[in-house]
Amino acid sequence: MISFKNLTQSDLGHLSQKLSSFLKAGDIVGLTGPLGVGKTTLVKSLGQAFKIRPDDVVSPTFTLLNIYDAALPIYHWDLYRVENEKELLALDYEEYFYGKGICIVEWFDKLEQLKPSSYIEIQLKIVSITQRDLTIEGHGEEGLILEKKLRNGLPRVACDPRNDRQVHA
Ligand SMILES: Nc1ncnc2c1ncn2[C@@H]1O[C@H](COP(=O)(O)OP(=O)(O)OP(=O)(O)O)[C@@H](O)[C@H]1O
Ligand SMILES: [Mg+2]
Repeated sequence: MISFKNLTQSDLGHLSQKLSSFLKAGDIVGLTGPLGVGKTTLVKSLGQAFKIRPDDVVSPTFTLLNIYDAALPIYHWDLYRVENEKELLALDYEEYFYGKGICIVEWFDKLEQLKPSSYIEIQLKIVSITQRDLTIEGHGEEGLILEKKLRNGLPRVACDPRNDRQVHA
């Protein structure tokens, strides 16, 4: 597990833009953490690296899925309103999960038994009004490979090296 502490919104933006350069078609990024923790904010920053305008990234709370047309398609899911697995099965979610793009899934924990075999999970926690803790954990073969790449490739300090707020475990 890789962890960062006390990230400000600009630190989070900085880190997720860096992270996006490691993502490739078929990767699944699960986002977890409470309401208002910054999941959509993180998707906006990831999207920027793919030249998607932040204003175009909106949480698909009602539609469940937004597709952004970038160099490769970005599938942005928000499962907040999903109540059971049947709803997901009805959406043909597998077509996207195992498709040609990158899947980023808010409220990933709602997938329960339907979680894919390989993914990275980014968990966010609220520390204060302006600061968040973040952990990154790979699951499954591909997920673990990606975690390793991120461990070697992400900066130990997420933003300004003069401060000591970020810790890379
Ligand atoms: N360090 C930080 N990182 C991320 N967001 C922050 C931070 N500090 C403050 N914020 C604010 O917290 C809010 C996060 O909202 P956002 O919609 O991204 O959360 P969310 O996790 O997607 O919520 P929801 O569960 O409703 O989808 C934004 O208003 C953002 O400006
Ligand atoms: Mg959101």
